[in-house]
Amino acid sequence: MKRHRGSFSALGIGIRAPSQTTPEASARIKRAEKVFSLVADPLAEYWISSLNQNTESLGALYSVGKDRRDTYREMVERIVDAVRAGLRVCAVAYGHPGVAAYPLHESVRRLRAEGFDAEMLPGISAEDCLFADLGIDPIVGGCRSYEATDFLVHSRGVDTAGNLILWQVGAIAETGFKLERGAWNPHGIAVLTEVLLETYPPNHEVIVYEAAQLPVCEALIQRVALASLPEAHITPMSTLFVPPLSKPAVDQTMLRRLGMAKKVVARAGGSG
Ligand SMILES: C[S@@+](CC[C@H](N)C(=O)[O-])C[C@H]1O[C@@H](n2cnc3c(N)ncnc32)[C@H](O)[C@@H]1O
Repeated sequence: MKRHRGSFSALGIGIRAPSQTTPEASARIKRAEKVFSLVADPLAEYWISSLNQNTESLGALYSVGKDRRDTYREMVERIVDAVRAGLRVCAVAYGHPGVAAYPLHESVRRLRAEGFDAEMLPGISAEDCLFADLGIDPIVGGCRSYEATDFLVHSRGVDTAGNLILWQVGAIAETGFKLERGAWNPHGIAVLTEVLLETYPPNHEVIVYEAAQLPVCEALIQRVALASLPEAHITPMSTLFVPPLSKPAVDQTMLRRLGMAKKVVARAGGSG
């Protein structure tokens, strides 16, 4: 029998699977010949296996003291090898498969470069849940989103008139893997707090956010003064939200250039 050519789908199951998993992602999982799961939650893992018995967890590649970059390289090798062997392969992450998910992006890149069909389907990320749970519209005021260590190491700076989202605050400067359920590096959180205090006042309210992973649970939303951030309960699943401190200044020259000056004056006068 002639074997078909291997192909790859990078999928995300959302934060609360299966209710946040798209029908197209579920369909890809069901029809795959090999499924690799990269999810943290045993219930989600179980659900994926119930859709397709040819599911293998790549979670076992993590180990304490091992550099995560080595783990990610091994994940990519496993995925790419299965596609080269002619299988229809899926890799399934939680959230969105393209957000903070190097092995999935890299697998798509490598496989496309080798001439295979490789796709990535969107999923509901932790940030999407944050917008919904905290009532944030990212285009009102704008929104910058950084991995926390990247934010610090590259001195990204902040726009205090916009929203700021920092991912992986529980694992700042940690390149390995730990089993601790609390913050992996409290010193990193202390440094992050000091850096944010260079711009924001100590009483500026920030939110340590954890989206609910089960439909029966509620999101964890801890509102703390920035100066107290090191005492907050932070885990590897926490995302930090820093709301705007001020409104953006209006560029009068640009208003005139765009022909908007009259409209803005009219609106301010209540007639627009
Ligand atoms: C490796 S990234 C995975 C992101 C995931 N692919 C997504 O689309 O949301 C892990 C980081 O995602 C964020 N995260 C994961 N689960 C979360 C949750 N339940 N609530 C809030 N943030 C979460 C945290 O910032 C965590 O450190």
